[in-house]
Amino acid sequence: MMSSKNEFKNQVKGLYRKILIAFGMIGIAVFGFLYIALNPSVLSKKPEETVVDVPEITSEIENGIHVATGFVDGDGLTEVIQNCTNCHSAKLVTQNRMSKEGWIATIRWMQETQNLWDLGDQEENIVNYLATNYAPQKKGRREALTNIEWYVLKQ
Ligand code: HEC
Repeated sequence: MMSSKNEFKNQVKGLYRKILIAFGMIGIAVFGFLYIALNPSVLSKKPEETVVDVPEITSEIENGIHVATGFVDGDGLTEVIQNCTNCHSAKLVTQNRMSKEGWIATIRWMQETQNLWDLGDQEENIVNYLATNYAPQKKGRREALTNIEWYVLKQ
């Protein structure tokens, strides 16, 4: 009677141990699954060599002009190259001259009608670059005449 009770106890202990091991294995499996789910890149083979397939835009600047695009060199040049040469040539940008408001309006127009993306916190840089380097030329009025040698009309 006593021994069968002990036997039962041992069986329960054994079962208890098996359940613990089973839970442990399930825990490890869940952890592994979550790890892979959160880091899918661990499964994908890494290419031996990373080939950068971005079309080469050289950063060569000559006489203050970015050679590959024709943009004037200045603060924000990189952002402008990255955001403003994807759909049309840089020439469409450089042949225009606008005030800050004008550039913002052009950007809004492209965003509303031409699928231009949200420029986020780069917008300020871009607009400043454009308004600084492609500002309207205020040459509409004739410049004041100076150093004029008047002559007396002869009758
Ligand atoms: C998602 C595509 C796309 C991107 C990116 C883009 N544009 Fe445009 N943009 C257009 C289209 C389309 C036109 C109209 C082209 C045409 O009329 O041939 C245009 C026209 C223009 C024009 C001429 C507007 C006019 O009134 O004639 C200017 C200036 C211009 N873009 C400047 C920019 C600047 C600056 C950027 C960067 C902030 C930029 N674009 C980025 C699509 C884009």
